[in-house]
This record gives sequence, C-alpha cells and structure tokens, in this order.
Amino acid sequence: MNTEITIIRPDDWHLHLRDGDMLAAVLPSSAKIFGRAIVMPNLVPPVTTAEQAEEYRRRIIKARPKNSKFMPLMTCYLTESTSVEGIRAAYAVKAFHAVKLFPAGATTNSDEGVIDINQVYPVLEAMQEIGMPLSVHGEVVDPRVDIFDREEAFIERVLEPLRKDLPELKIVFEHLTSKAGVDYVFEQDENMVATITPHHMLLTRNDLFNGGMNPYMYCLPVAKSFADYEAVRKAAVSGDPRFFLGTDSAPHPSRAKEKAGAAAGIFNAPTSIGYVAQVFEELSALDKLEGFTSIYGARFYGLSPNGSTITLAKRAEPVEMDWQIKVGGDVVKIFKPDTPLYWDLVD
Ligand code: DOR
Ligand code: ZN
Repeated sequence: MNTEITIIRPDDWHLHLRDGDMLAAVLPSSAKIFGRAIVMPNLVPPVTTAEQAEEYRRRIIKARPKNSKFMPLMTCYLTESTSVEGIRAAYAVKAFHAVKLFPAGATTNSDEGVIDINQVYPVLEAMQEIGMPLSVHGEVVDPRVDIFDREEAFIERVLEPLRKDLPELKIVFEHLTSKAGVDYVFEQDENMVATITPHHMLLTRNDLFNGGMNPYMYCLPVAKSFADYEAVRKAAVSGDPRFFLGTDSAPHPSRAKEKAGAAAGIFNAPTSIGYVAQVFEELSALDKLEGFTSIYGARFYGLSPNGSTITLAKRAEPVEMDWQIKVGGDVVKIFKPDTPLYWDLVD
C-alpha cells in the first residue's frame, strides 16, 4: 500500500543554480518541488552587487519551466570590499535576502571570499542593525586542521568571537555536518539557526570510499562520522525551529567530478525531498517534516509559508529514474546513495 503525505510546499534555504546551460538544465528539478530558494552567489565572477543579483534573478526567472511560480531569493557574496551602504540599500528593497560568508579557499569558487573577518565587521554591524541574515560556510581553511575537524574549529575560532561581538546578528550556519555544530546551535538563541542537507542525513565518510573512492559522495563540508551523522539526523527531526532544510544541491558536470581534484558538490535536487521524507519516516518523525521543510526557514527569513501544497508518496518498489541529466555534451549525476529511494513527489 502507498503511504501519502501532503505538506505545505517546501522551500530550499540553500541552493546552487549556476548559470547558462547548467542553470537551464538543473532549475526544473528544484522548481518542481520548492516554492522558493536562497540562491547561492558563488558564480564566476561572484554576485557581489544588487545589480548583478537582479540580472542573475532575471536569468533564473527566464529559465523557469512554463507556469512555474518558483521564486529565487538572491544573496550577496561577501568580500573584503563589500560596501556597507550597498548592503543597506539592497536589503531595504530585498534585492538581497542574505549575505554569504565564504572563508577564502574553503570551497568551490570561494577565492574572492573573506580572509580576515575583521575586515568585514562594518558590514556585519550594519547587518545586525537592520536584521539581515548572514549565511555562513562554517569551515576554517587552516591546512593544519584535519578536514573532518574544520567545522568544529570554525566554531571556536570564528563563530564564538563573532557571537560575542555581535550577539543580535542573525546567522545561518549552513550545511551543518558535525555533532559539535549541532550541540553548538542547540546551546545558542534564536539568532543562530542552521540548514541541514539531504546528503548529510544519509552519508558518513565511509560512503566516500565505499566500493572505491567515489567523487559523487564528495561535498564540502565533507560527510563525517556515524556520531556526527546521528546528531545531524536527530537535529533535523527534533522539531526545533532552528534547524531547517537547505539542500546545498551543487551540480558539477561529470568531467569535473571524475578526475583528480574532483569538484566538491552533490546534485541532489531531484531526489532531495524524497530522501528527506524517507529519513523522517525512518526516524518516526513524519509529523515533523513540514516544519523542517516548509515553515521554520520561511519564519526565520521573515516570510510566510507557501500558499500551495505538495504530496509525497512512499512507493512499494524503489523509485526508478535515469539518475542523470544532460547538460551540453556532458551529464550531471543525481545523488544516489546506497540507500534505495522509496519516496517521491506525486505529480
Ligand atoms: O560541496 C560544495 N559545493 N560545497 C560548497 O560549499 C559549494 C558547493 C558548490 O558550489 O559546488
Ligand atoms: Zn552550498
């Protein structure tokens, strides 16, 4: 028998849509499921001004499938020369919904990010004053810190001092992957929230090496231990409004994945909501799904939940699909962990 569940249409509070052919190829997968998405600004060159964001927003709207009402919510790539006045003006007209902090060198297209956080304090102070959220890639880039400890080190070295200096600044700790991160967010107040990805609810670092080294399980922050995975899953289903869905769907063509120096990023948009529902079912928490996917994030960003619903069904047999999409002369592979997928969207 099929189990069905209807929930308010979800939003994706962390999404990489890219541009050009890639945008056109990946956007329909997100637009089918989500009402809105926080669109990450790590294009080449990055989205650093309201004008660039508006042009990018228009390209996204133009690439939407016919009749889609999907709304991209734009973000600003924080650099050490981001202007305070520019941020104030852009937030006033919601040209930007958040500012994204990429520590320079932490991940894909982060070279123009922040080296010294003190340099961006005037911007952060203004954001605290106007209530604008700071979205954070929470990893240190110090090469002497073990890659699996970079989130925890970021808390000690960057987040704690920042919270002390600017306690009212709204912060989104993006793609939380560690027990240390989960424990930290639970200890904080409502100004500190976190997104959780579908893949970090399904993977441990074992998956990176299962059956041979697998770049399709590689993203940043990298998947961690079983204890971390358990903590992240528990936080997601906790019903605590400080944890909500951000897929971090990050497409790369297979030629960028299947090589030495494989690109970090997992394209999960097509299977995202199915896998999230599946994890919530596994943890007997389907009653908490709607808050996590469709309510808490909107509330944090000062928006109302979407006015429509989606229906998800649990199938008797694993969901079948092509597991890849074509882009130009290449393909982008869809996130397919070892766990078969039983849940999908009812059209
Ligand atoms: O795995 C990742 N991919 N992590 C990020 O932080 C960036 C993203 C991308 O843009 O490919
Ligand atoms: Zn991301």
